[in-house]
Amino acid sequence: MCGIVGYAGDRQALGVVLEGLSRLEYRGYDSAGVAVLTEGKIAWAKRAGKLGNLTSALKESPPLPGTVGLGHTRWATHGAPTDPNAHPHTDCDGNLAVVHNGIIENFAELRDELKAGGHLMTSETDTELVAHLLEDEMAAGPAEDGSLATAMRSVCQRLDGTFTLVAVDVRDPGVVVGARRNSPLVVGRGDGENFLASDVAAFISFTKDATEIGQNQVAEIRAGEVTVTNFDGSPGAVRDFTVDWDAEAAEKAGFKWFMAKEIAEQPRAVAEALVGRVGKDGRLVLDEMRLSDEELRSVDRIVVLGCGTAYHAGMIAKYAIEHWAKIPCEVALASEFRYSDPILTKSTLVIAISQSGETLDTLMAIRHASEQHSRVLSICNVKGSSIPRESDGVVYLHAGPEIAVASTKAFLTQLIACYVLALYLAQVRGSMYPDEIAMALDHLRAMPNAVEEVLERMGPVRAMARELAGERCVLFLGRHVGFPVALEGALKLKELAYMHAEGFAAGELKHGPIALIEPGLPVVIVTPPPADMPVLHDKIVSNIQEIRARGARTIVLAERGDEKVAPYADTLIELPPVPPLLQPLVAAVPLQVFACEVADIQGHDVDQPRNLAKSVTVE
Ligand code: M6R
Repeated sequence: MCGIVGYAGDRQALGVVLEGLSRLEYRGYDSAGVAVLTEGKIAWAKRAGKLGNLTSALKESPPLPGTVGLGHTRWATHGAPTDPNAHPHTDCDGNLAVVHNGIIENFAELRDELKAGGHLMTSETDTELVAHLLEDEMAAGPAEDGSLATAMRSVCQRLDGTFTLVAVDVRDPGVVVGARRNSPLVVGRGDGENFLASDVAAFISFTKDATEIGQNQVAEIRAGEVTVTNFDGSPGAVRDFTVDWDAEAAEKAGFKWFMAKEIAEQPRAVAEALVGRVGKDGRLVLDEMRLSDEELRSVDRIVVLGCGTAYHAGMIAKYAIEHWAKIPCEVALASEFRYSDPILTKSTLVIAISQSGETLDTLMAIRHASEQHSRVLSICNVKGSSIPRESDGVVYLHAGPEIAVASTKAFLTQLIACYVLALYLAQVRGSMYPDEIAMALDHLRAMPNAVEEVLERMGPVRAMARELAGERCVLFLGRHVGFPVALEGALKLKELAYMHAEGFAAGELKHGPIALIEPGLPVVIVTPPPADMPVLHDKIVSNIQEIRARGARTIVLAERGDEKVAPYADTLIELPPVPPLLQPLVAAVPLQVFACEVADIQGHDVDQPRNLAKSVTVE
């Protein structure tokens, strides 16, 4: 949440910062602001609303020249999305500017102290108090070394909560100082220029060389130098990495929406998520597993954690892990996990799924698991992010950047990673024969074509979106792995079309939800393959009849040639035949397209739905 960019180099900082913000706007779009060190003072501008409001205002006002600057795009926490609450925030004398991502929990007491000390607050934000705390530290400067970094280290030690802070000060020109605790910050290392950002997308068109900033560290970037220290002033240990995708990957490439592009990219993303998973000897290898076979053999229970779409991927992972690896597995919402007093031992393996690798609910959940001595394995997309850094092993998705707030290609590649991990566990523990694993891998390798085939047949889904765009409510039903797909379909529709949408396990219908059925209500049903799951298939056909008897309009996703279910479908969406466990890879796609189309028809911003942000870095 909130996108942050800092720049020190020889280019005009404003252009670099605005370009970075345009790539980070998906993190929050309630307001945007910039500050540039210019001729011994700080020039700044900020506006409520999307970045476009700020860029229009900047066109009409005098230029902000200077080669050191910072910027922010906001997802509001403290205070409404107004001009005064937009970042950056300044101190009383306008000597420094600061931007922030996160929540400062001891906000109230610090604000009272600062007010009592005569500071004038002009916003409702928790961020502004950091500007005033830095002001006091800089005023006391001669006692220390007078540097902004020293002031920042000192202020950070007074803050409770989560934060990424980035600041500039006229008294310490040439440097941008960033700090982080439980919120993301990376350095981009260029030639004679350096960057600070919430994620690498901000500087990818300038450099692919990046450095992870660790927990409780301060980074100082100058044109030719990067220095990292811990909050206590000792040298900070960091890890360099190279971004493995290009700037073009973060462009729309002719699509109207990033989401549409990311849906279309799925066959390739699924294929790439499988690359390099098999060694020369035919055995599965996982690049950053870091857990030994012995450790994996000692696992007696698995807990999969995630939020939103990642949680739905986890629900599907449970089926694969229990079926293939024969390890008892449960799935929990990361946001609920540590408050449920979970039973964790050193034989418990916790698998955290997160596209961004920064979701704070998930990060806090894995910290809790680590404290109880459980092993943590993460399934993440963004390299250098916090969750993989704090895990005992990682399976990366290799999906490239996912910019649209609604998760699509990350979901499919999370599923691939889960399937591969389940097979890897089966290999290590001997719960499947090598030829069975090889056959399952062959089925996975066929999935990019199957997803492509689904995408080529989206005409009926688009037509359905046109017909249903005016509906107030849509229900989604599924069984087995179709149930999480139903939940995912409902989540997509909620977040993009702001429609009431609910997913149910079809068997639960008659325990309550069937009361919602009324004539004409659209109900989407994910049908299991008839030949491989005949019992469940028959049951869902009965469920469809039950809702049709009450007037529901049935939209049935079913395997091509499924003649048993076809007569009960008002709209039939055919899926290519795939093994039952892998069906979510094809069944989720029409639901993504449906939600994207409905939102577009309704005139919503598909990539930046209201109230949401891509990376949820507050609890
Ligand atoms: O980055 P993460 O995978 O940890 O994000 C988890 C959820 O916030 C995310 O999947 C969210 O539900 C998506 N917007 C759904 O499309």
